[in-house]
Amino acid sequence: MRIASKANNKDMATSKGRILVTGGTGYIGSHTTVELLDAGYDVVIIDNLSNSNRNVLDGIEAISGRRPDFVEADCTDFGALEKLFKSYPDIVGIINFAASKAVGESVQKPLLYYRNNLNTLINLLELSKRYNVKGLVFSSSCTVYGEPDSNPVTEQSPIKPATSPYGNTKQICEEIICDDIAAGAPFRSIILRYFNPVGSHPSALIGELPNGVPQNLIPYLTQTAIGIRKELSVFGDDYNTPDGSCIRDYIDVVDLAKAHVIAVERLVEGKTESPVEIFNLGTGNGVSVLQLISEFEAATGVKVPHRIAARREGDIEKVWANPRRANEILGWKADTPLADTLRSAWKWQLALRERGIM
Ligand code: UFG
Repeated sequence: MRIASKANNKDMATSKGRILVTGGTGYIGSHTTVELLDAGYDVVIIDNLSNSNRNVLDGIEAISGRRPDFVEADCTDFGALEKLFKSYPDIVGIINFAASKAVGESVQKPLLYYRNNLNTLINLLELSKRYNVKGLVFSSSCTVYGEPDSNPVTEQSPIKPATSPYGNTKQICEEIICDDIAAGAPFRSIILRYFNPVGSHPSALIGELPNGVPQNLIPYLTQTAIGIRKELSVFGDDYNTPDGSCIRDYIDVVDLAKAHVIAVERLVEGKTESPVEIFNLGTGNGVSVLQLISEFEAATGVKVPHRIAARREGDIEKVWANPRRANEILGWKADTPLADTLRSAWKWQLALRERGIM
């Protein structure tokens, strides 16, 4: 375990306390770290860099003017994690992003997914008790709703059997949190069910860095638009939707990041209404794949070569959020226009080329 730049944040006289961000050099973790630093929190990141890069810390520092502390270690390593808690007795809250997240890979390597995602959470819960952490924000997913009976989905919509080990880890992790707290664990938790996070910080200093061929729509689309990929396959145009392609709720990653700051603050300040709170984080708007391509082309003026391909196994036909609970209780709203989000994704792709990364 290596600790970097520990002295940097010590002089923050106005700090609201320290947040542990697991997986903080990843896509959503890095954007959330920026928002936490901007809001006046100190941050220590733990990440094993399995799906991210140490340079992300430079991007975070360039945006916020502050460098988060960084520990390179794996959250499944209880000893390393405990050492971190001993080094940082001022941790008041945790935001847990450290998880494996590729649906297809989870089908090939289920044990890897169960080990990483479950052991990480269990270690964090155990250590939260030992080190008096007030609360944990957990990254869950709309994947828990499966193919919903109706849209938009609320937090009360039925949980459907998971269709992948990845999805199953999200369901099990939600249950682990609820069971531990029901058994008297002395902290609280907020579970955030994300819809489809997209885009990047408007500065293009941080963004999504997929490994290899992207599996998700936006990185594949921007890589096609820039010429890395020949064409984008639209997985199916024969669904029961207005244009036949699948519908999702695409939420701007910075909007999403801001919800985490509100959530962790609510925990740290003891403002939650119940020991576990669950919120959908989406825009409330369903957008089809074909609509998204048109919106991207209109927003950027760049054409996206695409063709209709076969359906992708396991895809949900349509799902979008009812975000009213988060709007009303958290006072949060995803209000970045989709065109701005798509422009930020494009700007990030251009920045990657400029830096010779992709
Ligand atoms: N799609 C294409 N072509 C591509 C990639 C995706 O047409 O090359 C389509 C998909 O069929 C789907 C939509 O674009 O209709 C979005 O696909 P993504 O892979 O970007 O996202 P998913 O909705 O499939 O999955 C996301 C997250 C998962 C999470 C899930 C919850 O990646 O981690 O939402 O539903 F579990």
